[in-house]
Amino acid sequence: MSKSVISYKIEDEQNKIRYLKKINNEFNRDILSLKSDQKILFIYDKNIAKSIIGDLKLNLKLTGNKVFFKEIEGKKTNKNIKNLLNLFDLLIEKKFTKNSIIISCGGGVIGDMCGLLSSLYLRGAIYLHIPTTMTAIVDSCIGGKTGINYKNLINSMGNYYHPKRVYILENLIQSIPHREYYSGFSEIIKCGLIGNKKIINLLKKKQILKKRENNQILSKIILETLKTKIKFFKNDVKERNERLYLNFGHTFAHAIEMSTESIIKKDYFRHGEAVGIGMLCEILFSNNGKKK
Ligand SMILES: NC(=O)c1ccc[n+]([C@@H]2O[C@H](COP(=O)([O-])OP(=O)(O)OC[C@H]3O[C@@H](n4cnc5c(N)ncnc54)[C@H](O)[C@@H]3O)[C@@H](O)[C@H]2O)c1
Repeated sequence: MSKSVISYKIEDEQNKIRYLKKINNEFNRDILSLKSDQKILFIYDKNIAKSIIGDLKLNLKLTGNKVFFKEIEGKKTNKNIKNLLNLFDLLIEKKFTKNSIIISCGGGVIGDMCGLLSSLYLRGAIYLHIPTTMTAIVDSCIGGKTGINYKNLINSMGNYYHPKRVYILENLIQSIPHREYYSGFSEIIKCGLIGNKKIINLLKKKQILKKRENNQILSKIILETLKTKIKFFKNDVKERNERLYLNFGHTFAHAIEMSTESIIKKDYFRHGEAVGIGMLCEILFSNNGKKK
């Protein structure tokens, strides 16, 4: 198997992550290899570069499948019941079946909501994901946590459902805005600290600060982080044991996100930014507030 494919099994289902330079025939062939009814709903974040969405739409049409498109903006306030129900209406109106394909292209917001949609529609449609923020690329694209926010509670409606395929597109990484790019590094650092020293060593290399395209250190960091996450969740999807390590920084992060949303403004911190502060708080508290 190529170094740019990660395969992992959850409850007898084989799932794959493919790291591609850009969207290509491999993507089309992969979609055609799935046993589907050849209907696709492609849900994408409004803020992604038009050229990338254009390429994806073209390739999806070239598969010969019947493709429908839906644009949504990926901010946290949009991870809500109204948007979820609108998507259900669309699936029902277009007569989607449980053998139809739902593809989401976005950050954690679009991914969490579309994962939930895929899991609930007729008790489970075929779900594929293309993550578009660094947080989504190294973290939320796998692990199966899906959800929407309801009654001011983060992920109060959700479940576990794993994408059959995740496609990481290197040309898309170049177009990620500064904030959505760097906020994802908290989850990378987290995986380095809890279980993979290789990541910390790679982060120390100067090349990481150079251009994002063809940056072999960056692609190594992304793949190592994903492998580390898989190691922690694959035998404990429902978070009873070792998966809990992945929550490092998150108790504070959720409190920070919720309090700033109600006191300052909605979507004040990116999830990754809150996790970064959360990890620092947890290190300080676990040390009884004393500096070493
Ligand atoms: N399921 C999980 O395991 C998991 C893990 C971490 C976070 N999350 C959830 O993810 C959400 C946060 O996700 P996020 O940090 O990826 O942010 P996001 O999805 O809210 O996106 C942040 C902003 O970036 C924009 N954007 C996204 N991709 C872009 C691109 N390529 N180019 C230009 N703009 C782009 C969006 O429109 C939005 O304005 C939270 O709801 C959090 O709870 C889930």
